[in-house]
Amino acid sequence: MHNQDDGANTETGPQAGSGEVTSARAKRKVQIRSFGCQMNVYDATRMGDLLEKEGYEETASQDDADLVILNTCHIREKASDRVFSELGRLREIKEERAASGASFKIAVAGCVAQAEGAEIRRREPAVDLVVGPQNYHKLGDFLRATDIGRSVVDTEFPIEDKFDHLIAPSPRRLQQRGISAFVTVQEGCDKFCTFCVVPYTRGSEVSRTPENILTEIRQLGSGGVREVTLLGQNVNAYHGEDESGRACSLARLMEKIAAVDGILRVRYMTSHPRDMGEDLIAAHGNLPALMPFLHLPVQSGSDRILAAMNRNHRAADYIELIARLRAVRPDIALSSDFIVGFPGETEQDFRDTVDLCETVTFASTYFFKYSMRPGTPAASLGDQIDEDTKRDRLARLQNVVERQRHAFNSAMVGRTVDVLFEKEGRQPGQISGKSPYLQVVHVDADKSLIGQCHQVEIMAAGTNTLFGRFA
Ligand code: 5AD
Ligand code: SF4
Repeated sequence: MHNQDDGANTETGPQAGSGEVTSARAKRKVQIRSFGCQMNVYDATRMGDLLEKEGYEETASQDDADLVILNTCHIREKASDRVFSELGRLREIKEERAASGASFKIAVAGCVAQAEGAEIRRREPAVDLVVGPQNYHKLGDFLRATDIGRSVVDTEFPIEDKFDHLIAPSPRRLQQRGISAFVTVQEGCDKFCTFCVVPYTRGSEVSRTPENILTEIRQLGSGGVREVTLLGQNVNAYHGEDESGRACSLARLMEKIAAVDGILRVRYMTSHPRDMGEDLIAAHGNLPALMPFLHLPVQSGSDRILAAMNRNHRAADYIELIARLRAVRPDIALSSDFIVGFPGETEQDFRDTVDLCETVTFASTYFFKYSMRPGTPAASLGDQIDEDTKRDRLARLQNVVERQRHAFNSAMVGRTVDVLFEKEGRQPGQISGKSPYLQVVHVDADKSLIGQCHQVEIMAAGTNTLFGRFA
């Protein structure tokens, strides 16, 4: 059950007390601002679909918004802290609007909402609604409650499955999905890496049913989407139950998705090395729609640190796994997350990470300074690493992986690759798309080719993008 905080009415203005949304009234506008991971981007799209049904229109600007939803991230301290400074600014807007008799609502969604719950309203009473990621399907009810002057905090993990509330987006919103779309297939994590808040904010692993996912992907395919990236905190642990009650693996799910009309490409993220099953590795060799790019975080190259992180594998296991993937798909490009400065990380541990990087070679990499998260086991470990050391190690690792990224992009020059065109380029007469390896490629071509896949010869490599011409 959600927890409605009846006493505190922060609502002012003409809409307070009306409790209804009618077509006679001008559409209300919502701005949804997402921070953090792609799952938040996907959730924001779903919230937008739902709110359209509730009579809200999405706007990119807070100036004409009647409701702002901060879709927050809790993974590192910086991201979390930012929420309260944003809320301070939104409170000022609310006060200005109230002075002129207008209403302005503030909602906090995402992982900070889940982690902090009612504490958010205690620190910032101007907030009308706090809603955790498991409860977005109830947004309509919650907003109606705020219309009659209530404030709502709901961070329960419900018994009902939020994915049962699949909403068919309007043709206009479907079109806004573009060519490449995210689809969450799995949520939550049972791995409990000792640094990570995800198992606490997103709960334990839940997989959507293949049928439910396919319904959504058929809608997307008919709306012009050509590439889907399947999302999950631990996506390769996916095991949705099919209609006969059997568990469907991610590999099998992707086979089904590849057969959906219009879908040309499939990707997935984020995976854990321990859950790379045989059939998933094999799919990289025999499922043509599955793109040869894999984001497979290793976090550290030191066995001692991997154990302290509770990653449940050694550096050598990761290297062997990569060799198996390369055996079935020699051109597979890899990307990883790394954390530097985990408690107790010595110079030698860090060098082991650099060595792993040199051994594997990554096409792109994300690296983070360890950030102590309240309530996680690593937060209470001794031997926390000082900020200067973290900064120094980050810069050194950055050097190594930037060199690798540059080498990877430069090696594309002269090669011919399939590019799926997604949008108009920055220069007039240019369109841009993605290579199979997730690189942005610009080509001088007519925009009627957007949504199509074409062979492109790569002519030049910039810092972040490639330039090509039709082969
Ligand atoms: N500090 C720094 N980085 C973290 N990540 C997760 N938790 C933390 C933390 N406490 C990183 C991991 C993960 C990515 C999504 O964020 O590298 O793979
Ligand atoms: Fe966090 Fe990923 Fe580890 Fe799960 S597998 S606890 S989401 S880092």
